[in-house]
Amino acid sequence: MTVLHPDLAATAASFFSDGPSLGDRVVQWQRVHGRHDLPWQKNRTAYRVWLSEIMLQQTQVTAVIPYYERFLQRFPDVFSLAEAPIEDVMALWAGLGYYTRARNLHRCAQEVVATYRGEFPADPVLLQALPGIGRSTAAAISAFSYGTRAAIMDGNVKRVFARVFGIREYPGNKPVEDQLWLLADSLLPAEGIDAYTQGLMDLGATVCTRSKPVCMLCPLQPHCVANREQLTAELPVRKPKKAVPSKRVLMPVVMVNGQVLLEQRPPSGIWGGLLSLPEIGGMQLADDALFEPDTNAVSAFAEKFTEVQSVRLLPDFEHVFTHFRLQIFPVIAEGSRWLPQVAESRYSIASPEQADTLALPAPVRSLLTTLVQDSSL
Ligand code: ADE
Ligand code: SF4
Repeated sequence: MTVLHPDLAATAASFFSDGPSLGDRVVQWQRVHGRHDLPWQKNRTAYRVWLSEIMLQQTQVTAVIPYYERFLQRFPDVFSLAEAPIEDVMALWAGLGYYTRARNLHRCAQEVVATYRGEFPADPVLLQALPGIGRSTAAAISAFSYGTRAAIMDGNVKRVFARVFGIREYPGNKPVEDQLWLLADSLLPAEGIDAYTQGLMDLGATVCTRSKPVCMLCPLQPHCVANREQLTAELPVRKPKKAVPSKRVLMPVVMVNGQVLLEQRPPSGIWGGLLSLPEIGGMQLADDALFEPDTNAVSAFAEKFTEVQSVRLLPDFEHVFTHFRLQIFPVIAEGSRWLPQVAESRYSIASPEQADTLALPAPVRSLLTTLVQDSSL
């Protein structure tokens, strides 16, 4: 079993031995200076807290808020979400990214209804067994919904702890992460777990920011190693870099009378389950390799669906995923009428004006919106 390294335990104990503990400092600070008006802090129920925590896993607060409000309007409780067709869930999620979250969200709602009669369990261990809920999310949901004393460990908390305790190793390394969890467990305050949990998030988001932290306003400043030793630019230690591969695809925009051909993506992989424009290629090339978009290949593809009358290349653009960059070369192939092949089940036809209401990946949605706005394209 892993135990908290004695040096780290001793450091943690000595730092806060002469006054309020780290936990109490964060709680006091949160009550005065933290955020209190986020939509998920009102009318707190486990359902509303869970939904917000899943959305906030990989997305910024400002981007989440409008999605959160729309979701709650359409699905006010776990029952309505569990009963909804997955397509409706995907359509409301479209644009938020990391779509596995939406599929897990739907499965989780169904499990909570089937197993717990619609009541989220309070025990973080049970929460963690549900789809899409990891250890930190389980702790956050339980702390906010039920006041359970459980530790979170997300990117913000890693940054704050790495700086306060002067941890000079990459906090994503498993052994370092194990130590951080033990440290986090040992630092939980006796009272005020919801203010503490929110306080760590608020500190990381508003004071102990990635670049230029505002140490003058920080309740942990008197004890912070990074502040004392001017190491805030060095800590947390960054992940050792791997080169990000780059892929290039042709994206046929087959158009007839202002309508475009869309393709249903397979359920797994990038943009799994979303509607998108078709793709040709997906070749991985060296960054500086010359790439000539093959408009003949687009023509040949489009001929399956229409009699092609003109083909033209649009400006290319890039979309960055976690593991690679995708350089997209859109090519419009315009035809006179649709051929029967468009009735194949994975294809459909839509007007670009509908882009906002379809379950499209964000870059495809904005490409279609550009087509509507710029009729010269
Ligand atoms: N990020 C994750 N959970 C959050 C919350 N409850 N409030 C603000 N940002 C968050
Ligand atoms: Fe972060 Fe500065 Fe506070 Fe240290 S003193 S935890 S570096 S904001």
